Amino acid sequence: AIPSSDAFVFFGATGDLAYKKIFPALQGMIKRGELDMPLIGMSRGGWSLDRLRERAHDSLRDNGGVDADAFARLSAQLQYIDGDYNDPATYERLKQGLDGASRPIHYLAIPPSMFGTVVQGLAAAGCNDGARVIVEKPFGRDLASAQALNRELHQVFPESAVFRIDHYLGKEAVRNLLYFRFANTFLEPVWNRTYVASVQITMAESFGVQGRGSFYEEVGAIRDVVQNHLLQVIALLAMDAPAGSDPDSLRAEKLRLFRAIRPLDVKHVVRGQFRGYRDEPGVAADSQVETFAALRLHIDTWRWAGVPFYIRAGKRLPITSTQVVVDLKRPALSIFDDISAAKSNYFRFRLSPEVVISAGARVKKVGEKMQGERVELIARSSPDGGKSPYEQLLGDAIRGDTSLFTRDDSVEEAWRVVEPALAGSHAGHVAPITIYEPGSWGPPAAANLVSGSEGWHDPVPETSHPC
Ligand code: BG6
Repeated sequence: AIPSSDAFVFFGATGDLAYKKIFPALQGMIKRGELDMPLIGMSRGGWSLDRLRERAHDSLRDNGGVDADAFARLSAQLQYIDGDYNDPATYERLKQGLDGASRPIHYLAIPPSMFGTVVQGLAAAGCNDGARVIVEKPFGRDLASAQALNRELHQVFPESAVFRIDHYLGKEAVRNLLYFRFANTFLEPVWNRTYVASVQITMAESFGVQGRGSFYEEVGAIRDVVQNHLLQVIALLAMDAPAGSDPDSLRAEKLRLFRAIRPLDVKHVVRGQFRGYRDEPGVAADSQVETFAALRLHIDTWRWAGVPFYIRAGKRLPITSTQVVVDLKRPALSIFDDISAAKSNYFRFRLSPEVVISAGARVKKVGEKMQGERVELIARSSPDGGKSPYEQLLGDAIRGDTSLFTRDDSVEEAWRVVEPALAGSHAGHVAPITIYEPGSWGPPAAANLVSGSEGWHDPVPETSHPC
């Protein structure tokens, strides 16, 4: 069996990610009795341990609540090491703080530009022996920078010790995609080009950039959520069954799928920006960054040849919801006169905020006529009592389970796919920006992208679905 880590070190302990995600996940693991090890917060902020404890308390208060017992344990396990990440003495102090722990896990909750410096510092002090490293997105901003980051990490850590977080993979609903596909018999016969007309994924957010304007200016929708979260969802939807249940069998199938996705054709990419984005703090007055993207992908495999995969993601849309719809082809012949009714046979995966899987079908309406109506056969699950994505993922990393982490080769393939559509990479070739009204479904051109099929399925409040 793979041994668990025996100390949890997190760089960026005073930062935003620690506040919003890491402390709540640590408290959750402590509550379940899964985190009996030193917790060492690292920062260059000039803080003290007491101040970090207070910060942890505030973080828990604001993100799900403080559990007095668990917090007491968290406080007791917590250490704080302050220092410049460029200074070898910082890593010497960490070495002492580890106090003989021989399999630490180092979480780099810091900007990627610091990864190289920190892993070299860890290596110089011998803190990398038997260790693992967790890194956050953004993992690069194009293929070349992702390759460079991989090289920097690999100078110190073998790939088997690198855990790249994509929090979408820790979500219950996303894990259920994989489960549902391969725990059932009835799906596989129709899950291919013979029966599937198209696949759509919409990741809609009704809010804007929430004060993160200067961060968002460096990314845009394609880098922020398409290259990572949404391509990962496509991989889980479209891949073949893994040869085994071990992490590398799963990752091998995902890689095979990524390799079969054609690079984006800018003719099939629509980029939009919500009116008002340019007035956000930190945003350029003439910004060309997209807050909305709609695109069409093709997967060149025997299973999917000719089936369009559509992705749409944006800020300031009419609703906050992520949903996949797999549209099936119509019946071979229309023997009832109402069968032309569109959008009847499909599978719908609501990934957020609710967790729902449904199959769209038609049933006969009571009465003399052979006329029907659309219904949904629905499975709802409530993730209550389950783990948050960060709790799931940090726990897996500590246990050494790589299943839900993105491997170097897949990350690079995903960048290869989106690269032709990235602003700033191929200036002049990238789709122009169209301004859209907040609260709309983006530029009208996005609708044309799916013309010829049944159009977009706009996510609606879950309670208004027929069932
Ligand atoms: C993040 C993006 O990765 O995912 C954000 O940077 C986005 O822009 C967020 O809002 C959405 O994730 P979730 O889990 O809150 O739906």
